[in-house]
Amino acid sequence: MLEARGLARRYDAGGARSRPALADVTLSLSAGEATAVVGESGSGKSTLARLLLRLERPDAGELLLDGASVTSVDERAYRRRVQMVFQDPYASLDPMRTVGGHLRGPLVRLAGVDDAGWRPQAAALLDEVGLAPAVEFLDRRPHELSGGQRQRVAIARALAAGPDVLVADEPTSMLDVSVRVGVLDVFAARKARGLALALITHDLGAAARVADRIVVLFAGRVVEQGPFSSVLRAPAHPYTRALIDALESLDAPPPPARPDADTTRGCAYAARCPRARPACSEQPSSLVVLDAARDHAARCLEHDGAHASERQRNVDVT
Ligand SMILES: Nc1ncnc2c1ncn2[C@@H]1O[C@H](COP(=O)(O)OP(=O)(O)OP(=O)(O)O)[C@@H](O)[C@H]1O
Ligand SMILES: [Mg+2]
Repeated sequence: MLEARGLARRYDAGGARSRPALADVTLSLSAGEATAVVGESGSGKSTLARLLLRLERPDAGELLLDGASVTSVDERAYRRRVQMVFQDPYASLDPMRTVGGHLRGPLVRLAGVDDAGWRPQAAALLDEVGLAPAVEFLDRRPHELSGGQRQRVAIARALAAGPDVLVADEPTSMLDVSVRVGVLDVFAARKARGLALALITHDLGAAARVADRIVVLFAGRVVEQGPFSSVLRAPAHPYTRALIDALESLDAPPPPARPDADTTRGCAYAARCPRARPACSEQPSSLVVLDAARDHAARCLEHDGAHASERQRNVDVT
């Protein structure tokens, strides 16, 4: 449905020590499929979301919607089909506008609902995201809502357009566990009706409830992508392994901070990687396909055929 090819974005002017916010990101969001996008703070998740939504232009790469370049799709048509839930529900809602007003816009302008008939539709959306009874919420303004309720209004607003693709940036971060499960179930139900979902999250546990695929970002690059369950069962990249270990042992010491600048020509994770070898900081790493049928790939020299044979040669000479 929505495909990104080689997306790159750099915010600063460049320079020897600068690092792009996003580099060479290729992924596809398919109908009826949820993709978890995970990675630590600063890894480029929100940047990727803004590029997918065409809120920013990439420095390189392209977006395709149903196989055609999105440059030929006008903004309104794109907005109707591709929607976003922003990371910050405080900043993304208009303080002067009621909840109903937030939903009326996309219902009438994008979904083509009759201006006289939008209220029942808005109420149904509020019901869907667990804001019930809906009539109690329609005329409230954002400051009369809790953080979690605002987040659900933001989700209802994104769904109001009737999108085919939804990019949700940490949509459950402010929700307590019971509400979180409810919202994830809303996504699962929409997915069953054909929605293509990108779920950006720190929370692999939450992702497990809906995700079919996973994309792991580190320092702006995809370090691993593949089917959610097989990647979690057998992570191929050391960073993915570390993410999963952190999930299993919440009391483990946090990993050392990542150096901000691109100090290595090779893998950005090398400085932190328990399995790093000298070649890791010297050789640019590429995404290596591990299982073509299931579209599982990892960016690690450990899986790099060229490197593996080089290692083999080293073994032969020594
Ligand atoms: N508008 C901007 N101007 C300059 N730098 C930016 C801008 N937006 C993002 N960045 C930088 O790009 C990198 C990626 O940021 P991004 O917001 O995409 O990370 P993230 O993965 O969403 O993090 P978090 O989990 O904290 O939300 C960071 O180093 C950030 O400082
Ligand atoms: Mg973010």
